[in-house]
Amino acid sequence: MDFTEARSELKQLLSRVVPAELPKLLHWISHSDELDELLLDNRTVTLRSIADDLRAGLPLDAMLPSETAAHHKMQQQPRPTVHVDGFLYNDEQVDSLCEDGTMSRTYCLSCGSHKTAALDFISHSFSVSELQFLFQNVLPDLSGRTLVDVGSRLGAVLYGGYVYSSASQLLGLELSDDFVRLQNNMLHKYRLNDRVQVLQADVRTQDILLQNADVLVMNNVFEYFMEPNEQVKAWRFVMQNFKKRGSLLVTVPSLQESLNALQQEALQPGWVEELPVDYDVSLGRDTDPDALRQIHLYRVM
Ligand SMILES: C[S@@+](CC[C@H](N)C(=O)[O-])C[C@H]1O[C@@H](n2cnc3c(N)ncnc32)[C@H](O)[C@@H]1O
Repeated sequence: MDFTEARSELKQLLSRVVPAELPKLLHWISHSDELDELLLDNRTVTLRSIADDLRAGLPLDAMLPSETAAHHKMQQQPRPTVHVDGFLYNDEQVDSLCEDGTMSRTYCLSCGSHKTAALDFISHSFSVSELQFLFQNVLPDLSGRTLVDVGSRLGAVLYGGYVYSSASQLLGLELSDDFVRLQNNMLHKYRLNDRVQVLQADVRTQDILLQNADVLVMNNVFEYFMEPNEQVKAWRFVMQNFKKRGSLLVTVPSLQESLNALQQEALQPGWVEELPVDYDVSLGRDTDPDALRQIHLYRVM
């Protein structure tokens, strides 16, 4: 049954409900966990299984000791910040790790006292619900198109693109050898190599690849991993090479926010135009509406 048929059946069903009970039913539809399982299809189950495998081979914070720039950047945040990878851990898993004391949402303000404050969590990967939103609500049909994920890390965008889209090619570029190895293990284990490839490379060496890409995904690629002057060079490189008219760019956060932080507001006039995104969708209680709003879509002009 498609959306139109389902809507008409739902309206018929609602018209038969005792009027006094209707508000209770509508409240249950929009707030109950009981419907979440309906949103869990095979594709989501595959992603969860990949996440289980990845989690088993990574430390709790899913960061490598070699990521010195990222560790340093996190220590410089105004409030204590920890990395909790959104692809590996959903809210329910974080709650249970907090309950058994493995993880904490708070830190102690004065050692030994019960005065605590909330820790800031950041994620270096898209969560499963963000991936679903990206491929089903933000991007158009990707049949015949090539998508490049700049900084593919654990491979979340590549696996998400495999299960939720018809993209012909999904290419990951990643600086870290270790993460490339981890992604290749998953591609092999889950037999995703027919449409997915990962390359160990700095995006700044990949001019031809950028010139041929139809969709570029840039989820907080540079901010935590490169010094500001290097970030400016990387953005320039991307702008000079990703310029096939009509190709699509997805960024987190907005391009404006990234460039403002580098004081490079004037870097991109006329490169891309922002396209509207409908953020008003419900993908289950695991979805963080604020995180979805960070996802921006642009078209190369
Ligand atoms: C925030 S993670 C993005 C993860 C993934 N794209 C996602 O959305 O789930 C950024 C990744 O970009 C990589 N990276 C940073 N600078 C890069 C560069 N110049 N070329 C390739 N990868 C880069 C980092 O090593 C890091 O793993």
